[in-house]
Amino acid sequence: MNIVTDQGTRVALVTGGNRGIGREIARQLAAAGLHVIIVCRDAAKGRQTIDEMREDGLAIELQVADVSDTQSIDRMLERIKQAHGRLDVLVNNAGIILDRGRSVLDVEESLMRETFDTNFFGALRMIQAAVPLMNEHHYGRIVNISSGLGAFEILQGLLGLKGSTSAYRISKTMLNALTCLVAQDAAEMGIKVNAVCPGRVQTDMGGADAPQTVAEGADTAVWLATLDEAGPNGGYFRERKQIAW
Ligand SMILES: NC(=O)c1ccc[n+]([C@@H]2O[C@H](COP(=O)([O-])OP(=O)(O)OC[C@H]3O[C@@H](n4cnc5c(N)ncnc54)[C@H](OP(=O)(O)O)[C@@H]3O)[C@@H](O)[C@H]2O)c1
Repeated sequence: MNIVTDQGTRVALVTGGNRGIGREIARQLAAAGLHVIIVCRDAAKGRQTIDEMREDGLAIELQVADVSDTQSIDRMLERIKQAHGRLDVLVNNAGIILDRGRSVLDVEESLMRETFDTNFFGALRMIQAAVPLMNEHHYGRIVNISSGLGAFEILQGLLGLKGSTSAYRISKTMLNALTCLVAQDAAEMGIKVNAVCPGRVQTDMGGADAPQTVAEGADTAVWLATLDEAGPNGGYFRERKQIAW
């Protein structure tokens, strides 16, 4: 079954789709009938993922690009435009955590910049490249995979984390701010932009002892990626419920 509109099957792009939450978001979107493209920086890892999906009966496309490289993103969007003529869904999922447990008082500036480059600028680059193609059909759903660790009430000490993991957490605060601003400027193009905290999920990043399965971690993102016209814009969600920035 394909999600078909008057103009054709919806096309979805998921960054960091070769493993973890991104891979599961891609799987669920493909199972829901969208044409899914995973963006991977490593071609071999990406091919392995789409081969495994094919064994499960899901046809997923691979695009090799690095979200920290503007030219590689622009070339990818051009290929997608030529091949499909449309982009309906963008899930900014690719993310890194480099300063787990480190205090903000001694984290290196270079490490902060590297984290921001993937987690914030990566999403910004993808959005700036994707919105013009979305606007051609006056439709878009952008989902930014954030983290509750970047929410202000948590930054103020609610979880007792104090000033640890600051590069990662501030990158997600920035991603949340980006969500608010893009949501306003893209709304008139029929594009909805929302952020999601997936919870702590059983992935390489979340750890095997995390409470949420990847299916649970992907659920809210998939819901936001397939919102109908009445759905929210410019919100921040966990388990399909609005949470505080
Ligand atoms: N797991 C959790 O508990 C949790 C909680 C809150 C938020 N999140 C967020 O959820 C998202 C996914 O997390 P996860 O747990 O699935 O992480 P993960 O298992 O570590 O996977 C991260 C994915 O991002 C990709 N990636 C990293 N840098 C990239 C780049 N420059 N260009 C393209 N792809 C890149 C990785 O590709 P490679 O395989 O090539 O490295 C990988 O596919 C992240 O944004 C994370 O911050 C996770």
